[in-house]
Amino acid sequence: AAVVQYQAESATISNGLVESNHAGFTGSGFVNYDNEVGSSVEFTVNAGTAGPATLTFRFANGQTANRPMDISVNGSVAASQLSFPSTGAWTTWTTKSTTVTLNAGSNKIKTVATTVNGGPNLDRIDV
Ligand code: GCU
Ligand code: CA
Ligand code: CA
Repeated sequence: AAVVQYQAESATISNGLVESNHAGFTGSGFVNYDNEVGSSVEFTVNAGTAGPATLTFRFANGQTANRPMDISVNGSVAASQLSFPSTGAWTTWTTKSTTVTLNAGSNKIKTVATTVNGGPNLDRIDV
């Protein structure tokens, strides 16, 4: 099926802010996770059929440290401590992909920061 873009700034944000002060994002901005464990963004994504699907996260990390996040699908961690390494600058955006199993229809994809640095700045996910 065609890839669909889900903008982070339209998702459900817990302990983070929608911002647009670093160029190169798509849509109307990105999410700046609060720099703490547990800050999160949850997306509702649709799958035409049940089975494996590639999630592609578009992000920037202007600091040197990796900012891993747990990626949960419908309440279960599907990718533990997925790495979001430095991109060198907050205006340098790149992608990280992981494959998960989705249900047919609606799915909840939650991305949760696991270190005191919070998550990277997150632009969107493509599914
Ligand atoms: C800076 C940057 C933010 C980023 C933050 C961080 O404040 O402007 O976009 O989220 O660093 O370290 O998380
Ligand atoms: Ca932040
Ligand atoms: Ca965006």
